[in-house]
Amino acid sequence: MTAAAWTRKDLLGIAELSVDEIELLLSTAESFAEVASRPVKKVPTLRGKSVVNLFLEPSTRTRVSFEMAAQRLSADVVNFGSEGSSQSKGETLADTAATIASMSPDFVIVRHAHAGVPAQLARRLRCGVINAGDGAHEHPTQALLDALTIRRHKGRIDGLTVAMVGDITHSRVVRSNIHLLTRLGARVRVAGPRTMVPRGITELGVEVHHAVEPALEGADVVMMLRLQLERQRSVLFPSLGEYSRLFGLDAGRLELASPDAIVLHPGPMNRNVEITSEVADGNRSMILEQVGHGVAVRMAALYLLAGAREARA
Ligand code: NCD
Repeated sequence: MTAAAWTRKDLLGIAELSVDEIELLLSTAESFAEVASRPVKKVPTLRGKSVVNLFLEPSTRTRVSFEMAAQRLSADVVNFGSEGSSQSKGETLADTAATIASMSPDFVIVRHAHAGVPAQLARRLRCGVINAGDGAHEHPTQALLDALTIRRHKGRIDGLTVAMVGDITHSRVVRSNIHLLTRLGARVRVAGPRTMVPRGITELGVEVHHAVEPALEGADVVMMLRLQLERQRSVLFPSLGEYSRLFGLDAGRLELASPDAIVLHPGPMNRNVEITSEVADGNRSMILEQVGHGVAVRMAALYLLAGAREARA
């Protein structure tokens, strides 16, 4: 598939993408990754276009990453947070959407605590909408940057064993990664306390473990997740200390994985809860590289969606 064949105006989730679309996003991101190593990190592709960053949930890396991606493509960016926005004054989503629409942006990047908000906005707005994380639903650009990081180290995704450990129930990162990795032929294991693994998850084609050790055994990629305390409605574990003892990744446990396993974490990390500093800062950790790849992936998404908009106009 070539860029000219891309027809979507929005990027809402990995679930609805074909293997060809995922591959195109990844190969386009590969070519943008090269821009980051140039002395002048800017290309004129989106000159004259505007991007609204609508982040109605906390974020550091994702928001900055989208902002940087848009700027490297020469677009203008406006940031819009929940604090100080009319949403905190009780404005409905429909009114926020109508307000944004009347300013005619080319893209809206949206992060929201409720699943489905990006899709609702996409239906209401003519501009392109990118989901930057909606509730526990999806976070497509995170899964793409994880895949790019894995591919750059392992040369492939097909046939790899990937273990994702932690709060599976509340993780949109896990959901997007499961769709992407299983579609590209990886074997996916999820592990977490029973209270943090949803029952139906096996239907997505993953292996489920309620202890970390069997999930790590021989894994090529180990992805640790943050406890989503802000989404947990009850106490799902006796204490952070106990969680860390049973599910945390330390150097000893990492020995169970393949000798050349890489370690990922979407961030923000809770050091010494889900991962020790020794592992997070160690030579198997690709955590900072993931962040770098985030910019390339978001440039690729903006570039492909912009092409589809132009073809439509
Ligand atoms: C993740 C998110 O917000 O879903 N972070 C991110 O985007 N890098 C994971 C998390 O918050 O734990």
